[in-house]
Amino acid sequence: MNLPPRLLPIIAVALALGACNSGERSAAGGAAEPRPLAGARIGGPFALTAADGRTVTDRDFAGKYRLMYFGYSFCPDVCPVDLNGLMLGLKEFERQDPARAARIQPIFVTLDPERDTREVVGRFAAQFHPRLIGLTGTPQQIADVAKAFLITYRKQPGSAPDRYLVAHTQLAYLMGPDGEPVALIPIDDVSTPDVNEGRPELVAADLARWVR
Ligand code: NI
Repeated sequence: MNLPPRLLPIIAVALALGACNSGERSAAGGAAEPRPLAGARIGGPFALTAADGRTVTDRDFAGKYRLMYFGYSFCPDVCPVDLNGLMLGLKEFERQDPARAARIQPIFVTLDPERDTREVVGRFAAQFHPRLIGLTGTPQQIADVAKAFLITYRKQPGSAPDRYLVAHTQLAYLMGPDGEPVALIPIDDVSTPDVNEGRPELVAADLARWVR
């Protein structure tokens, strides 16, 4: 697993808590490549609200892979860049293998439920991919889902009370058809501005690697 150093403590904890996976069998019967996050305690049930007001739970995505990213629509730089790269990567995979790509549901969860109302989060998500679902919720629902996915976030003062920033963990997860964690999907490491670790072709290659 090739991870930026800042993620290692998080993932090490997650794996230490839950590593007990004997690996999967591929459809062809051979041993599948081990999933990097197999057995990690990441994810779980959630209930959030979609742009149209309907309640969305993890069960709505049963049988689908979920490409999940957490952030906020007012994010000045990192979130839009990450979502752009992830969704361009998904589009690339859609061109390469439409059938497998159709098994992926991209999901954006806001960490700023105060400003990211369902309308705002829906409009924001739609900018990046027609199938990207934007989800919001009550502050408690957001806190719960963030905790389940090992995402931390905290408000930071901005130039005015309604212009605060939200510092947050920068991660993209691929979750499997049963909601189990599969792998981290590459995103740009902003501490190394020389290369883009989240280039769309790298995202597409990882999706091709893990989605069956
Ligand atoms: Ni952000």
